[in-house]
Amino acid sequence: MKKVGVAILGLGVVGGGTYKILTEHREFYRNTQNVDIEVVCVLEKDAARAEALGVPKEIVSANVFEVVSNPDVNVVVECLGGITEAKGYVLDALNVGKTVVTSNKELFCKYSHELERAAKRTNAGLYFEASCVGGVPIVRTLLDGVQSNKISSIQGIINGTTNYILTRMAKDGMHYEDALSEAKKLGYAEADPSADLDGFDAAYKLSILASLAFHTKVPFAKVFREGISNVSREDIANGNELGYTLKLLAVGKQSEHGVEVRVHPAFVKNSHPLAGVDGSFNAVYLTGDSVGEVMLYGKGAGEFPTGSAIVSDIIYAATHEGNRYSTFKNNASAEKDVKFVTDFESAYYLRLTVTDRAGALAKIAALFAKNNISIVELLQKSCDAESATVVLITHTTHEAAVKNAVSRINLCGVAKVDSVIRVL
Ligand code: HSE
Repeated sequence: MKKVGVAILGLGVVGGGTYKILTEHREFYRNTQNVDIEVVCVLEKDAARAEALGVPKEIVSANVFEVVSNPDVNVVVECLGGITEAKGYVLDALNVGKTVVTSNKELFCKYSHELERAAKRTNAGLYFEASCVGGVPIVRTLLDGVQSNKISSIQGIINGTTNYILTRMAKDGMHYEDALSEAKKLGYAEADPSADLDGFDAAYKLSILASLAFHTKVPFAKVFREGISNVSREDIANGNELGYTLKLLAVGKQSEHGVEVRVHPAFVKNSHPLAGVDGSFNAVYLTGDSVGEVMLYGKGAGEFPTGSAIVSDIIYAATHEGNRYSTFKNNASAEKDVKFVTDFESAYYLRLTVTDRAGALAKIAALFAKNNISIVELLQKSCDAESATVVLITHTTHEAAVKNAVSRINLCGVAKVDSVIRVL
């Protein structure tokens, strides 16, 4: 039976989950995969953390050189997160021919070119399923499940923390800060909350997934990004009244106009499958020219879902002869061949505080018509003597048209544009 020695770098939420799965399922993998996977060392400075997980003292080290150069190690699992240490350690491992499995989306998103070059040079494997959408096997699906298709769109809820927060706000009327602190306790949130809340985490994942789906290099810098920090309970409630659910959505599209990639809050019609993806659950909804629409749904964060993806990559590496690399054009200049769409099309939700005078709505409608924006639904929410809250939803239009209309809207008796939210 093939023996595989594993080193885990970092015993945080993901590294700890990976350790538990590997030790508890060792016999199962021997029986079902014909491979004996043993954790032979662990890089962890916090001895108490290792002890709490029951890791034998003799396999714990604080010295990365000792871990990476250990001749019994075949696969190095990187669960450190961040770039500074992780990048150097991963390159050290690849340079000596060890296969690397990583959950680090920022690292793979920003440095896949450099990492793959090192891996190919020493014929090492480089696997990153856990970097995108935790336990949902979307990388494997794109590489091995729907590769017969030209993919035209990949849309999803790919950040568990923000989805948890938005769900708790919508369903339980919870405040943003309280929901965030729960998400932290449950181990979904990144060390730096801004990575989740400002959409960085989702943008790293979208950059990787769009690169795979569209077989081109989609750099992080090309992903339009807006987070959820300005989301209000009022907008969530208005959306609910109109039949929409608010999500932090990642959208990637490829058409004759080019590649479009964006992460932002968006209202999703309640009849759309993505609207029912709640809590820490994630989903990716893709459209291929042969298969049509496919949705993958599951837990996108947490020790066991992400550990599941890591261990599946270890098994894949252990049970396949040649190593598999990503399928997109992965060189420094690849992105120069790609046209990126910035003036994307979407429908919009707007909440406006309007001076309550005769003709105010007519003026707003005229401004929208002038910008070729057609209104689908309109709701006057509340009135006092002076002002009213007006909520409206537009038909699909261009981002630039909405920006243009909003920049002139105060001439139409609008005292304040409270929110502008895209609608899927
Ligand atoms: N912080 C991430 C999330 C973890 O909330 O989805 C998985 O990448």
